Amino acid sequence: MRRSLVVGNWKMNGTLESAELLAKGIVAGLGSDIADIAICVPYVYLPNISALVKDSPLALGSQNVADKPLGAFTGEISAAMLKEFNCQYALVGHSERRSYYGDTNESVAARFCQAQEQNIIPVLCVGETLEQREQDQTFAVINEQLDAVINVAGIAAFNTAVIAYEPVWAIGTGKTASDEQAQEVHHYIRQYLAAKDQTIADKIQILYGGSAKPDNAKGLFAMPDIDGGLIGGASLDAESFLKIFHSI
Ligand code: 13P
Repeated sequence: MRRSLVVGNWKMNGTLESAELLAKGIVAGLGSDIADIAICVPYVYLPNISALVKDSPLALGSQNVADKPLGAFTGEISAAMLKEFNCQYALVGHSERRSYYGDTNESVAARFCQAQEQNIIPVLCVGETLEQREQDQTFAVINEQLDAVINVAGIAAFNTAVIAYEPVWAIGTGKTASDEQAQEVHHYIRQYLAAKDQTIADKIQILYGGSAKPDNAKGLFAMPDIDGGLIGGASLDAESFLKIFHSI
């Protein structure tokens, strides 16, 4: 039985004050240990939030990680730096990084490996655009995004990784994938991995992301291959994020 995981992605939102309040609110409302939970906060808030969530079940993550270990890479943050602030997770390949900041499949694979070098669990984000879905390219796009990492890191690397399926057309649009649409792709991803390693496929957590909200989380999480969520907008409010978490 896979343990579920709910991850909040705060993106570029908040102030230090609101970030601290939000983290405190989440910790206060966690209750019993029903699943894993994490928040991916803006880099500059990591020191403060790390201190706040210490000794709580709320894990910390970053929204990206450099594709190199150290050196003259202005503006980048290395996995070793993230580790210093107790990051347990790092998102890699989020569609906003891919589309606005030029993160390629190759650099995503390098970021994935850098995270693992520091024992940070990469959350590999994959997903198709609306145009790709309409042209029946969803599975081909997912194959390509997965292969880019598998070819570099090897399938065994997925022993300590999470996958997030985030259809680009559902991110921040209020247009959630239906339970069945999401399940279809999650199942596809699991089968794709199973063809390479059944044990890893059975074990890996595959999260859904894209306009997940308190009122649709339960249906999504009830699907057999959906092991939790990567939550954007609804993770910016402690009550709604906790409602989603408690929908597991
Ligand atoms: P929304 O939940 O705001 O659609 O964002 C999803 C997302 O991109 C999480 O990484």
